[in-house]
Amino acid sequence: QVPVQGGPSSLAFGEVRHQLSQHDAVPEGYETQVVIRWGDPILAEAPAFNPNAQTPAAQAGQFGYNNDYIDFKPLPQGSNTADHGLLCANLEYTNTNLMFAGIGSGSGARIRANAEQSHIERMAHGHAVVEIRKTNGVWGYVRESRYNRRITGDTPMRISGPAAGHALMKTNADPTGTRVLGTLSNCAGGNTPWGTVLVAEENFNGYFGGASAGTGPQGEMHRRYGIVAAAQYPWGRFEDRFNLDKEPNEPNRFGWVVEYDPYDPESVPVKRTALGRVKHEGATHAVSHDGRVVIYCGDDQAMDYVYKFVTARPFNLNDRAANRDMLDEGTLFVAKLQDDGKLEWLPVVHGQGPLTAANGFANQAEVLINTRRAGDLLGATPMDRPEDVETNPVNGRVYVVLTNNTTRAEGNAANPRPRNAHGHIIELIPPRVGNAVDHTATEGRWEIFLMAGKPGQDAGARYHRATSDQGWLSCPDNCAFDSKGRIWIATDGAPTAAGIADGLYAADTAGPGRALTKLFYQAPTGAEVCGPCMAPDDRTMFLAIQHPGEDTGSTFEAPSTRWPDFAEGMPPRPAVIAIVKKDGGIIGS
Ligand code: FEO
Ligand code: CA
Ligand code: CA
Ligand code: CA
Repeated sequence: QVPVQGGPSSLAFGEVRHQLSQHDAVPEGYETQVVIRWGDPILAEAPAFNPNAQTPAAQAGQFGYNNDYIDFKPLPQGSNTADHGLLCANLEYTNTNLMFAGIGSGSGARIRANAEQSHIERMAHGHAVVEIRKTNGVWGYVRESRYNRRITGDTPMRISGPAAGHALMKTNADPTGTRVLGTLSNCAGGNTPWGTVLVAEENFNGYFGGASAGTGPQGEMHRRYGIVAAAQYPWGRFEDRFNLDKEPNEPNRFGWVVEYDPYDPESVPVKRTALGRVKHEGATHAVSHDGRVVIYCGDDQAMDYVYKFVTARPFNLNDRAANRDMLDEGTLFVAKLQDDGKLEWLPVVHGQGPLTAANGFANQAEVLINTRRAGDLLGATPMDRPEDVETNPVNGRVYVVLTNNTTRAEGNAANPRPRNAHGHIIELIPPRVGNAVDHTATEGRWEIFLMAGKPGQDAGARYHRATSDQGWLSCPDNCAFDSKGRIWIATDGAPTAAGIADGLYAADTAGPGRALTKLFYQAPTGAEVCGPCMAPDDRTMFLAIQHPGEDTGSTFEAPSTRWPDFAEGMPPRPAVIAIVKKDGGIIGS
């Protein structure tokens, strides 16, 4: 089979082929470089990685597990440098059975971790900041840079905004309800125009358990967020704060968007409660026509909603300090996608509509802590697992990536497929004010960009008619845009039964090649592709390759792949890679 070369698409690379392999693949003329892997030491005191001699202290100074969102912040700060900067990486969760010997296989193996292993895993969670540099065309990280930082499941942080200090946020360890240890399940994320990074807490429910789950005054709320008696991790056996029977409020302190300053390694991360509490996939910003900043978020659960937060004030380009608490004041909205293509943003504000004391909300803090119930009462549109929501810098449209939803019995216009196994992507179209986009508007339009699945085989699949046998995709998750406004789509959950791995696909969003997706990167066995992040010069595509080897039966002793090291005894390692063109050219050119 001859791959499509260009055709009506502006993307000129020769497609990679759909295949399942221990190795990854890029188009001819491109190469991959490993920038940093799980276990690579980044702090001064951290030892070299030894998979058979892991300790909590070692892990707390090394790059953590399951890199997800990645960001590139240029150095020096404020410049547009594309070959030197800070790599900011979420470290979402841990695969116990691939990290340690003797655990066995499967995600249920997680619960078998002992106290020491659980502590190591908590240190492998969170976030990392690492100075990186391209030297003679090759990316690498700077060991012991003064910027290097690890944020873990135990790092002290502050809680701010309307829910800070509320009774439901207080615990024995923190009677003020304003200080919390750690950030967990950091999936996608985003950043702000004032240079900070946003870390989105997603599947926080799995860390908390106890016999009292689902009972008492918080029972219904815990259930709505998926908190059940049997936690996915055994941490509650070793640490009281993960045990609901001892600390029923601790999970209320997770599920937020966390802001921190990557340029200041001493800065205290802040959980910004004004943005609501859901399973935040990401938190991406757009600057509106009047300088106010809008943060878009998806709540990644079948039948959950899409949100946006609009700051109360315009940000100040010339005074970074003036923007410091910008995300504490503003309005949260939830999306209603009507059948006629109209988009409505409903305010998630105490006292408005059904969000009143009569319905159990005493104040805005309670609305935000139980954001999902607020969305339910407002009649928001239940979506097919909203993952990334990102704005195209060229056309101003906002892309909502819906990964799949096999629980849907009945379609609606925006989620037309019942039992949607492959997902789809929607464009939200905010109104314009002159040449600028009004992201603050409470009305707009929406349309479908593509319906994933194999054309001709999966009912409802809809792409450009020239999409090749390699170019169709399944389970879109994260996306990014290059400076030409072309979309780069990363997948999570491609059907291995159909012989396809997760990957990165690119497509034009306008012109004759609109929605003509092409396969650019094929991930190794068991891995999903996260955090697509284009360097400011479009000459490096950074990817976070998450959970390589996460397959049925794959274990530390006998993994399905030893990517990226392929060394005997070395388990697979989640890693951030850089893809460059061998001639130094523009990615996708
Ligand atoms: Fe962590 Fe929604 O993927
Ligand atoms: Ca993931
Ligand atoms: Ca994701
Ligand atoms: Ca996903």
